[in-house]
Amino acid sequence: MIAAFPDEKGRAAAATTMTDTVPQDEAATGPTTHFGFQTVAEEHKQKKVAEVFSSVAQKYDIMNDLMSFGLHRLWKAFAIRLAGVREGDRVLDVAGGTADLSLAFARRVGASGQVWLTDINHAMLARGRDRLLDNGHALPVVQCDAERLPFPGDNFDCVTVAFGLRNMTHKETALSEMRRVLRPGGRLLVLEFSRVWKPLSPFYDLYSFKLLPWMGAKVVGDPDSYRYLAESIRMHPGQQDLKAMMESAGLARVDYFNLSAGIVAVHRGYKL
Ligand SMILES: C[S@@+](CC[C@H](N)C(=O)[O-])C[C@H]1O[C@@H](n2cnc3c(N)ncnc32)[C@H](O)[C@@H]1O
Repeated sequence: MIAAFPDEKGRAAAATTMTDTVPQDEAATGPTTHFGFQTVAEEHKQKKVAEVFSSVAQKYDIMNDLMSFGLHRLWKAFAIRLAGVREGDRVLDVAGGTADLSLAFARRVGASGQVWLTDINHAMLARGRDRLLDNGHALPVVQCDAERLPFPGDNFDCVTVAFGLRNMTHKETALSEMRRVLRPGGRLLVLEFSRVWKPLSPFYDLYSFKLLPWMGAKVVGDPDSYRYLAESIRMHPGQQDLKAMMESAGLARVDYFNLSAGIVAVHRGYKL
């Protein structure tokens, strides 16, 4: 059973490197944001992101293995080690999707700890819940928006968000929320795509903009969701910018670790 709770502006410079036209949301009258390289009304982004993840949920795990040649497992293993979760800890997995991190944390915290799997998307969360149950873990699973976390403040020893922040409309709000629910001394881990080492970027662009949508078409029958993935990575803040965002959200001692030449980075910050 899944408990349902009520529920940057675009970087045109990055966009123009990969596409000549940046489609605009003609219905946008209020504040806008980016959805990949498109500029959309803020209120439309969440629905578009939901369409992406509802479409890919069934094949999400296999596509992760194919697209990253299995590397996502190593990236996640690194983030999990860095989280330093121990027996008895309370952990919140934000945008946890199909539960890779929740599963690893559940094994570490033991019977005296807690791991909460959360995500805004029902299809992703249902797969995560099923995987947890198949592995013998009946964890609390909550459908909620990271920008409005339904948890009291000062509650968790560790909060993680893996490959989720990029998809959120108000990243600063989500980061502040994640900080709010941490106990003093607790840590936030953000695992996310980042800026690849420059000499590799032509090859990475070729791979992202040609091969990914092709794989998406062949395996999921949905090239657009994988085009969005490639575009959203380019629009997401790089290592230093994300560090600054986390500091603005009130996190302290923020550091980061580049993995696979900066294809992804793990940022860690503390609530003091
Ligand atoms: C790429 S998946 C990552 C899933 C999982 N954490 C992993 O690493 O495999 C991104 C997830 O972020 C979720 N998401 C997007 N916007 C969100 C929001 N505002 N609040 C909570 N989850 C969100 C999506 O539904 C999706 O499940």
